[in-house]
Amino acid sequence: MRPYSLIAPAKINLYLEILGDRPDGYHELAMVMQSVALADQITLRANGTPRIQVFCDNPEVPADQTNLAYRAAVLMAETYVEAYRQYGGVDIRIEKRIPVGAGLAGGSTNAAAVLVGLDLMWGIGLTQIELQDLGAQLGSDVPFCIAGGTAIATGRGEVLSPLPNIDSLYVVLGKYQSLSVSTVWAYKTYRQRFEETYIREGDRLSAKRNAMKSGSLVSAINQGDHAQIGGLLYNDFEKIVLEEYPQVAALKSAMAACDPLGCLMSGSGPTVFALAETQDHADRIAADVRTAIPDRDLKLWVTQLCAHGIQMLPH
Ligand code: C5P
Repeated sequence: MRPYSLIAPAKINLYLEILGDRPDGYHELAMVMQSVALADQITLRANGTPRIQVFCDNPEVPADQTNLAYRAAVLMAETYVEAYRQYGGVDIRIEKRIPVGAGLAGGSTNAAAVLVGLDLMWGIGLTQIELQDLGAQLGSDVPFCIAGGTAIATGRGEVLSPLPNIDSLYVVLGKYQSLSVSTVWAYKTYRQRFEETYIREGDRLSAKRNAMKSGSLVSAINQGDHAQIGGLLYNDFEKIVLEEYPQVAALKSAMAACDPLGCLMSGSGPTVFALAETQDHADRIAADVRTAIPDRDLKLWVTQLCAHGIQMLPH
């Protein structure tokens, strides 16, 4: 059987508000999520054995059962027992380009690619919604990573409504290579600090969700107003992460001083991004940030916003 190769883009959050608790122990969120062209490449090959194996060119990525891509393949094998029996196990090769532990959904997008790829390889023919339902069992960001583009995400992050593309914009991503932030730590710390602000009543929660859907950032995206989009970026996690990690706060200040459309920390961090109108603009921001922070541990990427999620590569 021929191998299947897929492009798995990273995501950033243009907006992230933590609204409250959920009965399942997760947090109720209101977000705007955005794919970026910085992507991993995933190749799936039937290996003629019952085994599911992960290989990655980045030693920071675990190749064991904790890898979300591995868990995605197990979920497919357990859900589509007949297909797994017929086609057997699979080697999953991950060419890692997305930084790890970065708040860019690197693990989630790899899992999304495995779901999409095995569906094709095993000829199951799932719809995008069916793939996203499977994805939600693996992680809150997986459903978004399947569809990609620009979308409002509510619930745990898995309830999606698409927005118009704004993929002409460029983005500079900055991350200290040796620094990563645990998402579990970030949610726990946020809860300790801000639990009294959590909304518990169902009607107030849905009012909040609706307010975001008709709010200023979503209007700016609907109108393609880039300056407004840049001015309306927001992330609740900055309140705890920038305080705990002063170098992330300093990176954000350095980016903000370079005249971007706007800048923000993505997800639970520690990646900070700056939006730019053109590639030249983004290259200039990256060069100025590099001059302001000559630390070699700081890695910078210039990439473009992207209108899609998981995509098959032609063979
Ligand atoms: O869904 P995912 O497994 O990616 O989430 C990782 C962790 O982040 C969860 O175990 C939970 O602690 C936290 N989380 C949360 N509320 C969300 C999403 C994630 O509390 N909406």
